Amino acid sequence: MRILVTGGAGYIGSVTTRRLLDAGHEVVVLDSLVRGRRDAVDERARFVEGSVGDTACLERVMPGCDAVMHLAGLIEVGESQREPGRYFRANVAEPLAMLESMVRHGVDAIVFSSTAAVYGEPGRVPISEDDPTRPVNVYGRSKLMFERMLEAFGDAHGLRAIRYRYFNVAGAWPDGSLGEAHDPETHLVPRVLEAMATGETRFEVFGDDYDTPDGTCVRDFIHVLDLAEAHLLGLERLAADGAGGVFNLGTGSGYSNLEVVRACAEVTGAEVEIVFGPRRPGDPAVLVASAERVREVLGWQPARGALSTMIADAWRWHTARHGSPGDA
Ligand SMILES: NC(=O)c1ccc[n+]([C@@H]2O[C@H](COP(=O)([O-])OP(=O)(O)OC[C@H]3O[C@@H](n4cnc5c(N)ncnc54)[C@H](O)[C@@H]3O)[C@@H](O)[C@H]2O)c1
Repeated sequence: MRILVTGGAGYIGSVTTRRLLDAGHEVVVLDSLVRGRRDAVDERARFVEGSVGDTACLERVMPGCDAVMHLAGLIEVGESQREPGRYFRANVAEPLAMLESMVRHGVDAIVFSSTAAVYGEPGRVPISEDDPTRPVNVYGRSKLMFERMLEAFGDAHGLRAIRYRYFNVAGAWPDGSLGEAHDPETHLVPRVLEAMATGETRFEVFGDDYDTPDGTCVRDFIHVLDLAEAHLLGLERLAADGAGGVFNLGTGSGYSNLEVVRACAEVTGAEVEIVFGPRRPGDPAVLVASAERVREVLGWQPARGALSTMIADAWRWHTARHGSPGDA
């Protein structure tokens, strides 16, 4: 199949692109490079630099595609609070042009990267897909608005959409050749590893007085390659004329911030002094997915779900970029 991967120069998009190519699909990557990196795009893919909101560009890339994987967007919660217009434009207004282009060209299948942030502060954990969606930040609201647009396009035009609500994505391509490089970086694993790779020994954890076993926040981590695998399964379902739907992508269990930092120290052999800072506003104590639906309906199973595997893979990526702390 020919798949249009938007945001394919970003962290998850670059890994998903390579996985799709390895599975024998043809991939067209559309990325504005506002955040991604051209050199992260596998050379077997066709790369087009442009926005998902650029109609002329869409006219070039959409014809002949069988499905879209829509990963493009802005992803930083704090930035979304400061610049809501930018987030609603990038995550709602611009991809609306992409949906219209899909309809024009008869492309009726899409896999969309949504987020656990659509749930907001959960009423219970593990969080199921039928739980209320009450996002507490602009980022989450913008992703939920796009989900609503997908529903409307489904009703009106027969668009079939798989909406994946990712929990915390971590890890890298196992040989360390593709990985996470956000700027700004707010995710825990790359922040810790970045500190360790640059010889920084002190690491601040936000809050130690949450109602959790060790007082630090608990999150559900999923390996980026397991996530890419889920995208392949979703694509196969849509290609077989299956219905769309909404699915959490997490593992069903969580690790605390403290466990993650300690596991990073263990994997890397680095010394780390953990200091506790104040809570970060808007961080729920526990965010863990119910992963039953994606297992039952799509047969998805995480293969690289162990925390040590995710960190070891991510560390290979970090050392490939920076060298080990002990290197000259
Ligand atoms: N990383 C996570 O833990 C996580 C968690 C939940 C959801 N998600 C979602 O997954 C998707 C990918 O996340 P990521 O971590 O790979 O982010 P990323 O920033 O690495 O990649 C996003 C890519 O989208 C591109 N982009 C942004 N706006 C664009 C536009 N208008 N047109 C074309 N390209 C555009 C950027 O240049 C970048 O390459 C995002 O939609 C994000 O909301 C990520």
